[in-house]
Amino acid sequence: MSKTLTRKKPAAKKPARKAAKKPAARQTPKQKLYASLVVQLLSLLKGEHDLVANAANFSALLFNSLPNVNWAGFYFLREDELVLGPFQGNPACVRIPMGKGVCGVAAQQCETIIVPNVHEFPGHIACDVASNSEIVVPLFDGEQLLGVLDLDSPSMGRFDDQDAEGLNELVTVFVAHEEGLDR
Ligand code: SME
Repeated sequence: MSKTLTRKKPAAKKPARKAAKKPAARQTPKQKLYASLVVQLLSLLKGEHDLVANAANFSALLFNSLPNVNWAGFYFLREDELVLGPFQGNPACVRIPMGKGVCGVAAQQCETIIVPNVHEFPGHIACDVASNSEIVVPLFDGEQLLGVLDLDSPSMGRFDDQDAEGLNELVTVFVAHEEGLDR
């Protein structure tokens, strides 16, 4: 029987303190890019609810819009392992056991993982020898793990917290659109 993996509960918030009024923070160029990708993704998803078609267009949007990315795509949770979904980039390994590689660890821990140097990540699975850094973002349907979004880059340290935030927002938009549909 497969174990249902669920999102970690956020830590209890500290009691709110009256914050001093600060001027609204300006968006960085990267935040602006992710904001524009949310708009483009919504437009790509409009009127279409086929998971494979939408995941394919989503991966193409990321691959073609984000600089220094050599692989962008999905692994979906099937029974107890991750199975390759729609992607852009070189052919990749089809099945990843839970807890293996960056994808399997992110899926098992239900957490986004940023790897600045994949050669230093124990058990990293190399699908493209050109890859030097990676980010893996889990996808949830409510609290239940659906799979992961994986991005690779030939540049060291390509991904940061702004990428994690932007990609998490994009997968939230994506899953909300697909939610409740038969797969
Ligand atoms: N590097 C991943 C495997 C998937 S490919 O990068 C597309 C990992 O270690 O899980």
